[in-house]
Amino acid sequence: MTTLSTRPLARPQDPSPRPLGSPWPVSAVPGRGGDVLLGGVGLREAAERFGTPLYVLDEDEVRLRARAYRRALPQADVLYAAKAFLCTAMADWIADEGLGLDVCSAGELRLAAAAGFPPGRILLHGNAKSPEELRLARRLRVGRIVVDNLAEIPRLAALTAADTPQRVLARVLPGVAAGHHSAVRTGVDGQKFGFSIAAGEATEAVRRILAQPGLRLAGLHCHLGSQITDTAPYLTALDRLVELLARIRDRHGVELPELDLGGGHGVRYLPGDPELDPARFAAEITARLTARCAEHGLAVPKLTVEPGRAIAAPAAVAVYRVLSVKHTADGRAFAAVDGGMSDNPRPALYGSAYTVRPIGRTGTAQTRPFDVVGCHCEAGDLLARDAPLPADLRPGDLLAVPAAGAYHLSMASSYNHVGRPAVAAVREGRIRLLIRRETVDDFRTREVGR
Ligand code: LLP
Repeated sequence: MTTLSTRPLARPQDPSPRPLGSPWPVSAVPGRGGDVLLGGVGLREAAERFGTPLYVLDEDEVRLRARAYRRALPQADVLYAAKAFLCTAMADWIADEGLGLDVCSAGELRLAAAAGFPPGRILLHGNAKSPEELRLARRLRVGRIVVDNLAEIPRLAALTAADTPQRVLARVLPGVAAGHHSAVRTGVDGQKFGFSIAAGEATEAVRRILAQPGLRLAGLHCHLGSQITDTAPYLTALDRLVELLARIRDRHGVELPELDLGGGHGVRYLPGDPELDPARFAAEITARLTARCAEHGLAVPKLTVEPGRAIAAPAAVAVYRVLSVKHTADGRAFAAVDGGMSDNPRPALYGSAYTVRPIGRTGTAQTRPFDVVGCHCEAGDLLARDAPLPADLRPGDLLAVPAAGAYHLSMASSYNHVGRPAVAAVREGRIRLLIRRETVDDFRTREVGR
């Protein structure tokens, strides 16, 4: 299999074709014969070279988005949430752009460490960290650990000492409901994460952490939910966290120097969808933080944000090949492709909507709505409902789905042994394979008995 190509692929048909616009990466432009160019590379040739399904990741889009956060929040820590999508190249780009990394498992932590990501810029969180995970984090000298429950306090303290303290944040629940689906709303009481402010758990956790000489409580952490397109929930959460900082100061005589508002920044999946603009978010949050701290007579803590989706989602396009087309007696049409819920479980899990574009069609055919479905053995294996596609769509055609960079491959499964797709990166007219396609040999290698 080709693993690296330095040969530039197809060029745009005219010197300045009009970009496709969001939700496509900024580099996406129409190419010859109905192709789409991403980072100067034709998706059709990419699919032919590396096979489908193929995830094409635009390196410059990741870098641009990371840079936009750094520019918007120059005084803050911006941590990329690795759970959205992580591989070694991604860790390199994030480190290069001066961001930190939010990891939530030993696996993410080990991958980041193996990639050489600076450990001091890593934050580990999670509601169920094993003793081994905590030991690993200490051994690797992770910068910050987010304490999520009371049991973790003595467990972590046992791995530290007053002269080798661990910087920690306490994860609190501000009682704010936000996010695209109930499964991702983590800022409210009555779910598995963090300490409730309303029920007094947060103040008790703070008391216990402060009593441990090996733990240095740096601040508070919260994560409201995911795919939030409005700043209002963050402002409410911020108010409640600053109030809590003031109460901690009054009760314990300490002013905590950090405030982590988590991630959750929403992106566009369909043209015209709302999205959270980092610059606006930054301006509103910093103004509010300054004002609230002044009211409470607190020094302004250093802000941390943890965007995952907002950096990764718009940077990748998934490319599938149509395997069959079906027109049913009741007038519905299905385009079945060679991927599906094993590489993108989001429509099946959350009812998430996507836009689909045919690749390599000149656009003369009439369109009609198609349900784009996967190749898995479930009727719910859907990628997009009622996507307008050429009425004469046929097997062999290519379909591209933008905004595929977050929570697709990181949640991909081995369902039906289809194998997880390959990932290629594009930049300046060149394409290189980052992750090869998963094969049946990969499945068989894990089998050690019969
Ligand atoms: N920080 C913490 C503590 C988190 O739990 C998460 C996401 C993030 C940051 C990053 O959130 P983002 O900026 O990417 O929204 N599978 C779901 C999303 C689950 C998000 C879980 N936590 C989906 O596909 O919509």
